[in-house]
Parts: sequence; C-alpha cells; structure tokens
Amino acid sequence: MSEARSFSNILVTGGAGFIGSNFILYLFTKVGFAGRVVNLDALTYAGNPQNLSDIAAQYKDSYVFVHGDIRDAALVQKLFADYDIDAVVHFAAESHVDRSIIDPQCFITTNVMGTYTLLEAARQAWKGTAAPVLFHHISTDEVYGSLGEEGAFKETTPYDPRSPYSASKASSDFLVKAYSHTYGLPITISNCSNNYGPFQFPEKLIPLMILNMLEGKPLPVYGDGKNIRDWLYVVDHNAAVWTIMTRGTIGETYNIGGENEWENIRLLHRLIEIVAEETGKSVRELEGLITYVKDRPGHDRRYAIDCSKLKNELGWKQSVSFDEGLRHTVRWYLDNPEWIASVRSGAYRAWIATNYENRA
Ligand code: NAD
Ligand code: TYD
Repeated sequence: MSEARSFSNILVTGGAGFIGSNFILYLFTKVGFAGRVVNLDALTYAGNPQNLSDIAAQYKDSYVFVHGDIRDAALVQKLFADYDIDAVVHFAAESHVDRSIIDPQCFITTNVMGTYTLLEAARQAWKGTAAPVLFHHISTDEVYGSLGEEGAFKETTPYDPRSPYSASKASSDFLVKAYSHTYGLPITISNCSNNYGPFQFPEKLIPLMILNMLEGKPLPVYGDGKNIRDWLYVVDHNAAVWTIMTRGTIGETYNIGGENEWENIRLLHRLIEIVAEETGKSVRELEGLITYVKDRPGHDRRYAIDCSKLKNELGWKQSVSFDEGLRHTVRWYLDNPEWIASVRSGAYRAWIATNYENRA
C-alpha cells in the first residue's frame, strides 16, 4: 500500500453540523491531527458552534472557526490564500429531505452553487501547485435512487435521484467529477448511507424519536413504516472519510455503509426498548406513542450500500455495532439537555409545525 497523504491546513465546510462536528472532533482527538483546521459554516438552523467549544478551547492555535457562507466566492478565495489550504472536506449542505420537499431553493443554491464556488476557488488556488492537495466531497447514497427488495448500491450504480435533496447532491457530485476530468483537480468522493450519533439535529428519524419518547409525544411513522435504511454510526463514517482522504485513489468514488439494514418500524421498536432500559419508562407506554402518519411524497423505499471497494482496497470496516451505537446515542441525548434546548429555537418549532401538521 502506498504511503498515506498528509495535510497541513484543512478547510472543513459545514463543521458546525452533525457529521462535520464529529469529523473535527475525530481529527483532533482520534487522529491526533497536528495541522490547522479551518471550519467554515454559515450556522443555519442545523449548525451549532458549541458542538466544538472544547476543541476551540483546547486547540486555540490550530482550530479556526469562520462564520460564513460557501456561496460567498470572495470569502472562500480569501480563506484559501490566508490559510494556505491544502485539503478541503466538504460537508456543508442542506441535508433534510422533508425540508427539500417543502422549500427546495436553498438546496440548489447551497448544495449546487456552493459546491461550484468551492471547486472554483480550489482550482484557482491550486493552479500549478506541486504540493499534494485534495478536495474531498461528502455525498449520500440517496443519489442512486431507491432499491427494490434485492441488491445494494455500488459505485457504478447509475444515478437516479428522486427528491430535491438527492437531486441537488447528485448535481454537486457531477460537478466535482467534472472538475476532476476537465481540470485535473485532485478529488475523492464518498457516498454514505444514513448516519446517526451525537449532535444530530432532531429533525432526523433517530433523534426525533428519542426526544419525542422522552417528552411523551407521538412517534410519527411515515406511510407503512416499512421503508428501509442502512444505518452507520457517525464515527465510523468519519473514520472512512479520513481513510479515503489519506489513502484513497485520486479521482475515485467510495461508497460507505453500515451493512445494517432496518425497516423504520423495526428500528423504532428496538429504539423504544433501549430508551425504556435507559430511562425506566415502560415499553408499553412508549409503544402506545407510535402514530402512523401520511407518507413523505416520493418516499424512497430502500437504501443499501455495497462498501466492498472501501473494505477491500483500503481496509476500512465498521467498528460500532448498532445496539452499542444506539445506546450511546440515547445516553448522549439524555446527558445533553442544554444542547437540545439550544437547538430548539423558534425556527425549529416552526419546522415541526410545518412538517407534521398535515400528516395526521
Ligand atoms: P447538517 O444539516 O447537520 O449540517 C450541515 C451544516 O452545513 C450545518 O452546520 C450548516 O450550518 C452548514 N451549512 C448549510 N448551508 C451552508 C452554507 N451555504 N455555507 C456554509 N455552511 C452551510 O448535515 P449533516 O447530516 O452533518 O450532513 C453533512 C454532509 O453529509 C452533507 O453534505 C450531507 O449531504 C452528507 N450526508 C449526510 C448523511 C446523514 O445521514 N446525515 C448521510 C450521508 C451523507
Ligand atoms: P430521515 O432521518 O429523514 O433520513 P432520510 O430521509 O435521509 O433517509 O428519515 C429516515 C427514514 O425515516 C425515512 O424512511 C423517513 C422516515 N421518517 C419517519 O418515518 N418519520 C419521521 O418523523 C422522520 C423524520 C423520518
């Protein structure tokens, strides 16, 4: 295996969100990264710089937070120049399918135009450079569409995005590939399945269900509850991202997945058991909160990832079992009421009202 690439100044976009925060924590605490991390985040409803307050305090000289937008070309160009950026990890995105159905516009401007702005800044900044540089783009399995009962998405599966979210992510993936083919920009791409873990905004299935259980609120199951997702603990996702950045083949795409498929309703029953064990609440009472609601329009039926390329070529594998990861996640939400309170702004309450009011 060839020697691992190393970087000095990494620009992380969207590092105040769920996966990006966990990535920066992973870099400093698990990898022992000794260079500089510049975290560019617009702090939308989903971004919370407090996620990294310990990192900011402990790594004053090597962690820089910049409150700004990836669509701001002048700012992005300045960051490349000021910090001599040699790697980008691009997490920043609008990430929630239901929001993309209600209001797609910012998905197009952030996910497509924002990615274009970053690519263009990287191309200009790295023109003629002899130093090893890399643009790593974070994407999703949703670009591949929806599966029937058999099979799994491979890197070669044709794209078939079906929601405004997945269409905008697919567009950004194509732009990244185009910059590689046309301009020779050194890129890698990863397409990951559903993540869960600490710091996930409580609009997504697992944290929403945990918080509703703690508060005795209905547990809204879309449609027949038999849609299937392939779940991966967020730290395992970030370990895969770092593996690809340091040892992946330039220009390649790698699928990342949990190999851990669950029907939503089956997942919910398991989550109820864990919450009951952790809180002393009664399983029967929690089961009584399950409420079937109107389905999501265009709801993809099944996702499953074939991540054999990543496993065989780079030796990555999942390290956290679903039970272990779910229990850790439940405990994290139980232990962090201030974090929950801080993300539940007026905007969060307005979203919950908009998304669930017509689903009864
Ligand atoms: P998130 O919504 O929790 O965080 C997104 C972050 O991006 C937030 O901090 C937000 O403030 C920031 N952001 C949004 N628009 C911005 C802009 N214009 N400029 C700068 N910052 C902006 O999302 P997440 O779940 O952490 O997802 C991160 C990435 O991983 C996304 O690209 C998403 O498509 C991808 N992904 C997510 C999952 C998942 O299960 N959550 C799975 C596969 C891939
Ligand atoms: P979500 O966490 O939004 O991720 P994605 O749509 O990107 O896979 O949803 C995961 C699954 O859970 C998906 O099939 C939709 C379903 N779901 C519900 O049944 N109820 C809910 O309240 C939410 C948010 C999701």
